[in-house]
Amino acid sequence: MSQHDTIAVVDFGGQYAHLIATKVRRLRVLAEIRQPEDPIEAFRKYKGIILSGSPGLLSSGEDSGSTKAIYDLDVPIVGFCFGHQEIAKHYGGRVVNGGREWGRAKLHIVREHPLFEGLAPVEQVFMSHYDSVVSVGEGFEELGYTVLGESEGAGHRFAAIGSDKYRRYGFQYHPEVDDTVHGHQMIANFVLGICGCRPSWTMERYLEEQVERVRAQVGHRSVFLLASGGVDSTVAAKLFALAIGPDRLHLLHVDNGLMRKDESRHVVETLKTLGIGEHLHFVDASEDFVGALRGVTEPEAKRQIIGDTFVDVFEREARRLGIEDHLLGQGTIYPDTIETGGTKRSDTIKTHHNRVPVIARMIQAGRVVEPLAELYKVEVRELGEQLGIPQEMIWRHPFPGPGLAVRCLGPVSRQRLDMLREADAVFVEEIKAAGLYRKMWQSFAVLLPVRSVGVMGDDRTYQYTIALRAVESLDGMTADWVRLPYDLLARASSRIVNEVPGVNRVVYDVSSKPPSTIEWE
Ligand code: XMP
Repeated sequence: MSQHDTIAVVDFGGQYAHLIATKVRRLRVLAEIRQPEDPIEAFRKYKGIILSGSPGLLSSGEDSGSTKAIYDLDVPIVGFCFGHQEIAKHYGGRVVNGGREWGRAKLHIVREHPLFEGLAPVEQVFMSHYDSVVSVGEGFEELGYTVLGESEGAGHRFAAIGSDKYRRYGFQYHPEVDDTVHGHQMIANFVLGICGCRPSWTMERYLEEQVERVRAQVGHRSVFLLASGGVDSTVAAKLFALAIGPDRLHLLHVDNGLMRKDESRHVVETLKTLGIGEHLHFVDASEDFVGALRGVTEPEAKRQIIGDTFVDVFEREARRLGIEDHLLGQGTIYPDTIETGGTKRSDTIKTHHNRVPVIARMIQAGRVVEPLAELYKVEVRELGEQLGIPQEMIWRHPFPGPGLAVRCLGPVSRQRLDMLREADAVFVEEIKAAGLYRKMWQSFAVLLPVRSVGVMGDDRTYQYTIALRAVESLDGMTADWVRLPYDLLARASSRIVNEVPGVNRVVYDVSSKPPSTIEWE
């Protein structure tokens, strides 16, 4: 079908396989995810193959289960981390459990090579592995090694290997993550240089393909979509309207009582201005959600309840509105599926509401349509621009499906939610006033379930704590906390304590992801 030069990314289950695909697509080269056990025929159309990382260990005798016949193909192959070890081993090298190496390291490039074109002799790379390559087979050579740097663990030989004879290469580090400062250049050198791919893939082209796919899947039926007002569901809504026309698109905005301050009102007004609101429905279901959450404190339980309640409310509204024979539209994006264990080989970190069992069953029955499921947030935003969605919508910070429930630690009640809503509004207002809103991935407040002693005027107080969180991230998969100016933090803190009854203490979260996550629950 495709006249594009295409790269296969073999998903060994590392969290980063799809990130690699995104990085390749950013070079305007189409990248497709393949499973290691896919038949060899599936690999014949590619101009190059990238093997991803994996949580598995080759040293313990685990087999990757990959189609070894790919090594008979006459196309360049590069492996990252586990993929690197897999290649080394296949060609007669040795892989041992050499102990953990995690963090930034300095890569010393041993000789000039097209893979390292445009790079300095020493480059910062990011390492995360236990197994190491300790020798390479015939025809292979060491292209780079690392030395003890900032990384936790010893330096390491064979950090980059290659064989120009076989056109097989491997990097022990992860060029796809931002901590490998010039990783994009290394990927470009492989894809554009060694594989000779011509950049021809565009978001415009992606949009055309998705419109076709949606038309084929939906047929003569209609699409019913939960429109939260976030960038993902808004972009999905606009895409559906383009594919099947606004008359067969039903949008439902649910006020679940877990939205931010004035959010539902604002969302409904904005959706109306987008020309897709021919059938825009609104329901105040806050009692359903807040009622169902009463007394629940465990994060995964909250997520499950919210997911189930969404399904109940949705079905009730579909019946009430007489919408039949519809498909469920969802603005699910790639990180929503991977961190939910949505791909074959990844662990569940958090259950996103669009992956609760009943939805999973609907997906299996082909009743769910998710045109953004392969994209990362940056790509969704690009697509949104393509679709003419206003900047203000496109640049809204991501907001989790379970809303403020996962930022209201401990029990969820209307009173606690109101406290959190007010504090959150103050913080975001200050971030916007400082002109920093667009410079970060997310900023929000969290209500902690602990009380501490304070003093206000002459009185002792015993009240709650608000934690503020602001993070930078490219895709939500990894994140760093933002070094906010002290005066901004001071203003936010003093306003929150003064304006939000019940709060006497404000703290700032200085943890990165990993090891923390962005949301607290
Ligand atoms: P974590 O907390 O897992 O979040 O580091 C990564 C990104 O995902 C968002 N997030 C969600 N988005 N449904 C969503 O649509 C969810 O259940 C959900 N949980 C977390 C989070 O805000 C961050 O941007």
